[in-house]
Amino acid sequence: MRLDKALASSGYGTRTEVKALISKGLVTVAGNVIKDPGFKINDEDKDLIEVKGAKAGIKDKIYLLFDKPDEVLTAMEDKRLPHVGQFIPANIKNRKISPVGRLDYHTTGLLILTNDGELSHRLTSPTYGISKTYEVTFEGPALTSAEVEEALKGITLTDQDKPVKLHPAKLELTEDANTALLTLTEGKTHEVRRIFARWNRPVAALRRLSVGTLKLDPESIPGDIRELTEDETASLKSLTGMYQEARIQ
Ligand code: URA
Repeated sequence: MRLDKALASSGYGTRTEVKALISKGLVTVAGNVIKDPGFKINDEDKDLIEVKGAKAGIKDKIYLLFDKPDEVLTAMEDKRLPHVGQFIPANIKNRKISPVGRLDYHTTGLLILTNDGELSHRLTSPTYGISKTYEVTFEGPALTSAEVEEALKGITLTDQDKPVKLHPAKLELTEDANTALLTLTEGKTHEVRRIFARWNRPVAALRRLSVGTLKLDPESIPGDIRELTEDETASLKSLTGMYQEARIQ
């Protein structure tokens, strides 16, 4: 990675500001003043960079919490339709960020975006059973305890060639007869919409509120995007066992 890019994406300013810092001789790598903004740094150099004499915290992994709006494709590029890639800030666009799993075109809410492939895999693979909670607004009569129990036992979907038995899910009824919270631990395609279709309650609106320990901010508005805090990232890594395995190796 280029030195100016590493510093810019670690919060040391825009590319132009960082280039100025470098050309003024304020940046050292392993004790040597580097005046070339294009100087290539490797993994070991990352810990040896200093800016104005202080150790620079180079962040090569980026974690973003995006509140996906309605009518946005979970894709980094698309020629025709609004897509997630359009919401990524310009200064980190080239950092190979991808969505963690996918939300339907009409689903809103929490979508993690990252270039940390290992965490992304652990958050989406059914092996890790990470829970995802959705707020579901549906049409038709209120849900009953029969549906709550069916969800808990594991619903069998019969809408495709072969029946599919789902993992147990938690269905919580709310004060609003047409809104429920559904927590799933696997990520089958259109899973929530298919479950509600089975119950003859078409989904009118679907919003993801949480993924594992990460929750959408209560005041969040679709289109909002922010970096995860260090605690939020650490909590997701801990939940998916990334720290334990790092210690064992
Ligand atoms: N289940 C769905 O049906 N749609 C989504 O976007 C996510 C889960």
